[in-house]
Amino acid sequence: MRSVLECKQMCADSKASKPADGRGRYEVGQRRCNTCGVFFDTANMHCQCCGTKLRTKPRSKAGKERLAAVHSGSAATAAEAAAPNPAKTKPASAPEPKRAAKTSDSKPQKGRNGAATTTAKSAAAVATARGPNLGGMDWGLANRMASIIRPEDSRALMLAVDHGYFLGPTERLEEPDRVIAPLLEYCDSLMLTRGVQRTSVPPTTRTPMVLRVSGGSSIIGEDLSQEDVTVSIQDAIRLNASALALSIFVGSKYEYQTIANLGRLVGRAQEYGIPVLAVTAVGKELGKDARYLSLACRIAAEQGAHIVKTYYCEDFEKVTRSCPVPIIVAGGKKIPERDALELTYNSIRGGAVGVDMGRNIWQSDHPVAMIRAVRSIVHGTNDVDRAYRMYLDLAKPG
Ligand code: R5P
Repeated sequence: MRSVLECKQMCADSKASKPADGRGRYEVGQRRCNTCGVFFDTANMHCQCCGTKLRTKPRSKAGKERLAAVHSGSAATAAEAAAPNPAKTKPASAPEPKRAAKTSDSKPQKGRNGAATTTAKSAAAVATARGPNLGGMDWGLANRMASIIRPEDSRALMLAVDHGYFLGPTERLEEPDRVIAPLLEYCDSLMLTRGVQRTSVPPTTRTPMVLRVSGGSSIIGEDLSQEDVTVSIQDAIRLNASALALSIFVGSKYEYQTIANLGRLVGRAQEYGIPVLAVTAVGKELGKDARYLSLACRIAAEQGAHIVKTYYCEDFEKVTRSCPVPIIVAGGKKIPERDALELTYNSIRGGAVGVDMGRNIWQSDHPVAMIRAVRSIVHGTNDVDRAYRMYLDLAKPG
């Protein structure tokens, strides 16, 4: 079992620099990992490198008091002195909750000024905000969703190894157990078939499983879009699935069948609190442009899919904007590592929660280096250049 208190050297590239405007690190919202000994500019509660809970306040009493004074607006900060633009200065009376939009922390938010923030007008809101915010979901569904899209930063890194369900022994995935083992600790969830789960994943793992439950066609068959649901809900529960994945083939010969499959699966899965990930599979004859992908993603969401997996494309924001559920991006066929990191970066910038990547990780000559570099973008603060440098460093022999 992996230690939670050990620096795994994954933090070097995502550590935050000292604010240039003279403000303190905690003051600007940075958080410190005492195990790794670095600060991060993150909304995460725990260090993405070692798992240690991050400090949000200085250790000393004086430091705590200074921070409280800054937050309550009773102290003039160095930044206020150095920042002549009033638009950049936060009003003391209404401090903005830092990164509230980025985190989906379900804990009720406490006002910084304690009871003073609880006015008569907000009392009702405070009362209804008690308890976890499940976003209208049942607890089980919310809990499973949170195991796939991490609540600390609302991001997801899914490792896809389900290719064999229609491709057979895919290149470099011939022995799934050997491929999966070294990568398991770096992904948030694993997307796979029940056959690979039962034969090739240790049942002691804590990594959530996204179980592919559709299939029925092969790469050499007549039509890849002719899929059905091939796994029962009982078997999915036996496999402790955290989500079920199924492909829909919008615009194909079997469009109706696959979309109806999705609707029925959502109905069944919802009874047991299991989310469904719809894969917008694209046939050879259909383009992967924003017009087509936004159509396919929206249809999947309308059928009740909880997450939609699709491809990155030009004008990707059009796809994410018109889809009311989280979108995760498939890696696609193997491309150079830097390009795959760019795809990851652009997908997140375009509004995706993360990537569900397969070939661009395990077909790389250095799969562990690659997944760690992808992770540094998804959950860290690396841009493409820094992530690529990280990949090259980790790929070096020795
Ligand atoms: C394809 O049918 C599978 O669902 C894969 O999981 C998906 O395409 C993602 O894998 P890759 O990054 O290799 O495209």
